[in-house]
Amino acid sequence: MNDVLIIGGGVIGLSIARELHKRGMKRITLLEQGVCGRESSWAAGGMLGPQAETDEAGVFFDICCESRDLYPQLAANLLSETGIDIELERSGTLYLTFTDEDVRELRARCDWQMKAGFVVERLTGEEARKAEPAISNDIREAFIFPNDWQVDNRKLLAALRRYAEMNDVQVIENTHVTTLVKQDNTVKGVETNAGMLSAATTVLATGAWTSLIQLGVAPFPVRVEPVRGQIIAFQTAPALFKRVIYSRRGYLVPRLDGRILAGSTTENVGFDRSITDSAAEELKVIATEIAPFVSALSITDHWSGLRPKAKDGLPVLGSVSGLAGLFIATAHYRNGILLAPISAKLTAESLLDGVDSAYLEQFGPDRFAVEPVGLARSS
Ligand code: GLY
Repeated sequence: MNDVLIIGGGVIGLSIARELHKRGMKRITLLEQGVCGRESSWAAGGMLGPQAETDEAGVFFDICCESRDLYPQLAANLLSETGIDIELERSGTLYLTFTDEDVRELRARCDWQMKAGFVVERLTGEEARKAEPAISNDIREAFIFPNDWQVDNRKLLAALRRYAEMNDVQVIENTHVTTLVKQDNTVKGVETNAGMLSAATTVLATGAWTSLIQLGVAPFPVRVEPVRGQIIAFQTAPALFKRVIYSRRGYLVPRLDGRILAGSTTENVGFDRSITDSAAEELKVIATEIAPFVSALSITDHWSGLRPKAKDGLPVLGSVSGLAGLFIATAHYRNGILLAPISAKLTAESLLDGVDSAYLEQFGPDRFAVEPVGLARSS
């Protein structure tokens, strides 16, 4: 029997596998319905930008910042463990404003962050262009968040995958779970298209697909919907931009090899992963507002991913009251890459040390429960 069975081979599942292994857990199996790291974690932009992206102070902002701050150590550890550099780029994030509304919103964001002791620098248009000469002349003012960074999410996935391979984490791909196996009020493993797998603990890191699993408990408190995001890419000379650059309408992410990613859409289209010409045009307009020279570039790549979103848009992390043997780590929505390190840490602390952080209280699945699951009828 497995000590732990992790369902889902995206950045969350792979990070949890590594963290559990590093803390001494044996017999870890990770099950992936397709190929590890090829869904929303692969499609992401890799921004680690809680300050640039969050509108208000609170526990969600806190968990995002805490996870971001785990990245320097994670990047160093993964390099020594696997030889893969995840390209953590720490030049900060630039946020441009073009309209009155942009200025109002960004000044308000900066005010509460500065009052709370976070670093934000306000720049004139000229100062911003000195920092990033390829941006538009039309900006009103700009803000630098020096502690918001980026990582190459595909390299991160490769490093986590290699860690699993090097450390005898059993990875089973192209196998999907149909139902949780439950006995009394304990999850004993899962039924898959290739038979049953049993485990002392099952972790659901199933992202947008969480609600497709027959959970064997009713009513199950968590509902996760897919939300499509499309990104386009252009090829430029390397190092044309140093930083991730946002406007209120989208963002540009420069990669070290000269690619510039422009994202992203937010579309409720179910499990449809298609890419569309209209999205490519829309994203090119957003990118051109930030950096007008982009209008002359051709799009060299275009992809999409399905973000996993719970009803309130917040992550779901924790166990379900009245149901032993199950831990849920899903619904990271726009923040899967950012929240992977802390999700892995909180999961490991809960499963191995029996310590549930206050974050699990806040983000646990019980927040959706209408009645204790243990009292509900099994389906
Ligand atoms: N975190 C950026 C996005 O979801 O587009």
